[in-house]
Amino acid sequence: MDQQPFQPIRLVDYQPPEFLVERLSLCISLAADHTLVRATSVLHRNRDAAKKSGPLLLSGEHLELLEVRLNGEKVAPDAYRTTPESLEIDTVPDDFQLEVVTRLYPDRNTALSGLYRSSGMYCTQCEAQGFRRITYYLDRPDVLTRFFTRIEAEAESFPVLLANGNLVAAGRLPQGRHFVEWDDPFPKPSYLFALVAGNLSQIEDSFVTRSGRRIVLQIYVEEHNRHKCDHAMASLKKAMKWDEEVYGLEYDLDQYMIVAVDHFNMGAMENKGLNIFNAKYVLASPETATDQDYLGIQAVIAHEYFHNWTGNRVTCRDWFQLSLKEGLTVFRDQQFSADMDSAAVQRINEVRTLRQVQFREDSSPLAHPVRPEEYVEINNFYTVTVYNKGAELIRMLYTLLGEAAYYRGFALYIQRHDGQAVTCEDFVQAMADASGRDLSPFMRWYTQAGTPQLTIQESWQQEQGLYGLTVSQQTPPTPGQPRKVPVPIPLLIGLLDDQGNDLTATLSGDHERRGDDVLLEVTEAEQQFRFTGLTSRPHLSVLRSFSAPVKLHSFRTRDELAFLSVHDHDLFNRWDAAFSLSELVLLDLVTEDSADRDERGISDSYLQAMQSLVRSSITDLSLLAEALRLPTENYVLQKLEQIDPDRLYQAYHRGKQELAAFLETDLLDLYRKYRSTGAYRFSREDVGQRSLCGVCLDYLASLAAHRTDLTELCRSHYQEAGNMTDRMIALTAAVQLEGDLREALLADFEQAWHREPLVMDKWFAVQASSSAADTVGRVEKLLHHPDFSLNNPNRVRALIGTFGQNHFHFHHHSGSGYRLVTRVILELDALNPQVAARMAGPFVSWRRYDGQRQQQLRASLRSMVEKPGVSRDLYEVANKSLG
Ligand code: ARG
Ligand code: ZN
Repeated sequence: MDQQPFQPIRLVDYQPPEFLVERLSLCISLAADHTLVRATSVLHRNRDAAKKSGPLLLSGEHLELLEVRLNGEKVAPDAYRTTPESLEIDTVPDDFQLEVVTRLYPDRNTALSGLYRSSGMYCTQCEAQGFRRITYYLDRPDVLTRFFTRIEAEAESFPVLLANGNLVAAGRLPQGRHFVEWDDPFPKPSYLFALVAGNLSQIEDSFVTRSGRRIVLQIYVEEHNRHKCDHAMASLKKAMKWDEEVYGLEYDLDQYMIVAVDHFNMGAMENKGLNIFNAKYVLASPETATDQDYLGIQAVIAHEYFHNWTGNRVTCRDWFQLSLKEGLTVFRDQQFSADMDSAAVQRINEVRTLRQVQFREDSSPLAHPVRPEEYVEINNFYTVTVYNKGAELIRMLYTLLGEAAYYRGFALYIQRHDGQAVTCEDFVQAMADASGRDLSPFMRWYTQAGTPQLTIQESWQQEQGLYGLTVSQQTPPTPGQPRKVPVPIPLLIGLLDDQGNDLTATLSGDHERRGDDVLLEVTEAEQQFRFTGLTSRPHLSVLRSFSAPVKLHSFRTRDELAFLSVHDHDLFNRWDAAFSLSELVLLDLVTEDSADRDERGISDSYLQAMQSLVRSSITDLSLLAEALRLPTENYVLQKLEQIDPDRLYQAYHRGKQELAAFLETDLLDLYRKYRSTGAYRFSREDVGQRSLCGVCLDYLASLAAHRTDLTELCRSHYQEAGNMTDRMIALTAAVQLEGDLREALLADFEQAWHREPLVMDKWFAVQASSSAADTVGRVEKLLHHPDFSLNNPNRVRALIGTFGQNHFHFHHHSGSGYRLVTRVILELDALNPQVAARMAGPFVSWRRYDGQRQQQLRASLRSMVEKPGVSRDLYEVANKSLG
């Protein structure tokens, strides 16, 4: 096939809708083997559209069309046409009522988009374009209307029937059926529609808003999970309060519902008044969920709640503007998490994701701007670039404008655009108007892909006490964007004296202040900054709090990094200095010529720096744990010209072991000091203790191959574990070891938890992430485990997604890792294209590997592109990767 089978959609082709919908009434009748949908809408031509006449074109997929009526009259079949993706009605008046009856088969819907069945219940996922799998409609975010939904179903199996808005009627029907009617007073685009039908139990609570309205809060789950909803409920109430206090935003309906489902393509969905969640982000008990799960739930519950204003009340004009709601809402949930827990640790984890995942995407064949210019399949653009880099853009505006102007701008945005579908420009314009600044150069951050690289040169003139910085920026080319322009970069810095004291208070020069930091605005390709009023050469702490999503060209000596890792009072930068130092050391090990390596590969100064960290008085134990944790292989490899997976793996593990051996007694001391077997509490202190013990055990386990005392430590950690966090810490350590302990713990774990799907996901994932030699074979075996299923995205991500990130084994020189994942992707693509396309991620950067691996990776990508009946989703990813 020479011609491209799928045509891209382009932002420049955007046209306002030709028709608008005044209201929509849905009657959805669930039967045993199919569902009938009667959609009645009132439409009229859009006066703002370019075209004032012509047919009505509606989107629809996988639908059986049974009937079309216009103003009550049946439309003859020769007056409309259907294609696999649309319904076109030739002649329609300017104002009319349309009735469309369709039949669908949710039980066969394995793509999990539209209406589908998950563990007995029915649920929907309509973002981005799932509503067109329910009825023919103007399925685009700039068409907003009031929804009325009637659901009919068999009463005994589906006692709970939910949709958006307020419950207005319910009653019995003949033959053991019943109905409910929901009315949503807020006009919304179809992607925010939701429906749930099932035999669910609920926990209920309430929240009184600052204006005194009482909101009913409900979380719906299967009965056996009822006891696992408290943390989600507590998180929801915290989020509601926080949004009132920080953003002045109050909830608008009288009821807020969350439903947990087992089969879900993404994390969760912000449907108006009826959020539908991957169960992973709702269910938690100390026995089944780790501290990371608790944190994830808190963040995702908040994220979906915050969407009610940033996404639902003000929505996106088109899908290119996705970051308008996602980047902004991620920034808001990050602010919330920082306020709930350790702000420094929160920021560290955000930056880890950015550097390890987003920077990689930004330098890959899939690089795209925060606002993409074209797509083949929009579901491929729910990316770390749109979400997390998008959040960094909002953070930069916050930093540039300062807190007060930022919140003024936000309020103006809501006030101007409530009830509208808008663009990223509209958001930035509100920020500009509220601050009186020209933010047009800032739009480049939305349109230009790639990660800017900053080079920094320092100068010092002792006689004048003059300190200078030359900052230059350069963004490497990305596909379709060979030439780049400078972007406005807010650079937060601090200057320290030799004792670590802050020197910026008395500083003069061209700058503003942001809290304890100095703000430099880098707008040009190269720029100078001068500071006077210093008596000795300062130490520079730069890019504090990671004030912009850029790469810093390393310009600091190891001694300087070691100094900052101890003295910087910006906690984030203290961590960053330790992290950068570890990165340099690991890179040395990878790139050094093994012939001229002396016995000790790691410099004493690094070992000393890490030891002073271990022995330091850091009281935030989570922070200490993060400072000790090494950058991952997947991070380190970004700095390598050509990646040799075997060499990277060996160097990495040699480095880690050397460090562990040097620190052994310190690590054991820390471990014993903080190891606790008391009752589980999800508190900052306890999370910190567990996290620190986990890092210690991870290092110690790297030495355990011939050390029964350390193997025993893993065993006892497992046996004494009173919660899932500790159990997983021990299991993860044990799985790296080949031998009896690993087999014993895996068997015990499986036996204990085989009834808990979310826990079994961990069991699959931990084996797929193992560095042990036989990992590919184990993953192969797990594919045939009775609990493995391609129909459950969480399970696929646990086994295949995790294995794809296991750098060494995925890239096994035999090609066995590639073949395994390719086989799964090809099979999965026929069932669930969205998830299949995600699993292809590890193949994308094939150019970075040696000739033989390149060949194998490319052959895999080609087999995806050429697969008969390949999905749009997988085709786009594989085809772009081949370039
Ligand atoms: N809007 C959801 C969120 O909160 C993501 C849903 C995306 N789903 C999809 N199939 N593309 O981030
Ligand atoms: Zn979101």
